[in-house]
Amino acid sequence: TDKKLWGGRFAESTAPLVEQFNASVSFDQRLAEQDIRGSLAHVEMLGSAGILTGEEVTQIQDGLNVILADIRAGNFEWRLDREDVHMNVEAALRDRVGGVAGKLHTARSRNDQVAVDFRLFTKEAALTLADLTRELRRVMVAEAEKHLSSAAGQPVILPGYTHLQVAQPILLSHWFMAYAAMLERDEGRFRGAAERMDESPLGSSALAGTPWSIDRHATAAALGFARPTANSLDGVGSRDFALEFLSACAILMAHLSRLSEETVLYSTFEFGFLTLPDSHTTGSSIMPQKKNPDVSELARGKAGRVFGNLMGLLTVVKGTPLAYNKDLQEDKEGVFDSFDTCSVVLRLYAEMLPKSVWNHETTLKAAGRGYSTATDLADHLARGGMPFREAHEVVGGLVGVASRSGRQLWELSDAEMRAAHPLLSAEVAAALTVEASVAGRRSYGGTAPERVREAIDAAKAALGQ
Ligand code: ARG
Repeated sequence: TDKKLWGGRFAESTAPLVEQFNASVSFDQRLAEQDIRGSLAHVEMLGSAGILTGEEVTQIQDGLNVILADIRAGNFEWRLDREDVHMNVEAALRDRVGGVAGKLHTARSRNDQVAVDFRLFTKEAALTLADLTRELRRVMVAEAEKHLSSAAGQPVILPGYTHLQVAQPILLSHWFMAYAAMLERDEGRFRGAAERMDESPLGSSALAGTPWSIDRHATAAALGFARPTANSLDGVGSRDFALEFLSACAILMAHLSRLSEETVLYSTFEFGFLTLPDSHTTGSSIMPQKKNPDVSELARGKAGRVFGNLMGLLTVVKGTPLAYNKDLQEDKEGVFDSFDTCSVVLRLYAEMLPKSVWNHETTLKAAGRGYSTATDLADHLARGGMPFREAHEVVGGLVGVASRSGRQLWELSDAEMRAAHPLLSAEVAAALTVEASVAGRRSYGGTAPERVREAIDAAKAALGQ
């Protein structure tokens, strides 16, 4: 253990338990690249501003570059007694280049140092997740297009549900495009968050700015930020950029957990809609017949931790006085975890969906059950002039007759149909196919094949395809 970088005023050494409790190096070493990039830019600027000599700048930068290479090669000893990534790097620099290392921290505090490191990391993470989300969007659109004309040249039909009760038939492609629409907004949330956090807090110093004649615009530009943050208290004390990132992750995972639930359900023996690939399912150690949708279930479960990371940081930030408080050291692990979790789940779905097989006959048959075309029959009556509410009542009565006798609507006799209303007949009932139902829903955004085709074309254009 060497003397603390902040040890001047202390007469007693730090208690071992405090040292352990206080240290963040076990996780914030993940910011080493960003930390050294920040220091290189800071030193460069100190040189340009005439605060350090050219010789000092070179010595410090050379030392930092060697340390960066050591870290990348796994040859760096991370020390708990040096507390965090920032002081590990600075102390290693002192070990390497001697006293001049002490000039690196001129006009800087760990408060703006950690803020700039973490913004660099989170901005890159947001852009990476935006790209991965876009990739899954591409997969959704490609699957939508693939299922627009299946074996017989016909679009694949799926039961559409509300309350998980059969509602109306839809195209499987329409279902894929619904997820594509959610993912488009998810991607937009990541890009929007990255744009808003594109400001450098470096040079805010501890909280109040600095008397040194630094150039914050120069360091911001060198680090690839659009501009410096405008207020030094805000620069070091705010973490809404991380909250926004975490909330984009949480909303994404809410969407992927719905996809997960549907893939779990549709791949059951009872539904039989979907066969997941062997490569992305697992077996049971006792039941030889099992093929479990572990990826979907784990993805559904991991939504919980990603939500937790958002709630965790909201709760950490809540009620902290301006500006920096040590509480904020708790901001990092959740961001790392949500980033890692979302990355792997996005990649897994992009792999798994194209290898999954939809069982067209099963989905078609299921789409016709449960009186899924009853609305079409009511629409038929309403087109004849009957108020829709009344038509709803008439068809409801017919569904009652059919369901009490275990029949489908098209199995009712001509007499039963006419008894319900003179505009009805066995012929009308026979026309109530799921294909006709789907084809009729031509409203903008509806499930009719030509509307879905348009939606796919628009999505492909938006994806630059
Ligand atoms: N490890 C700290 C963090 O992650 C760095 C900033 C500490 N600043 C301070 N004055 N204690 O937040």
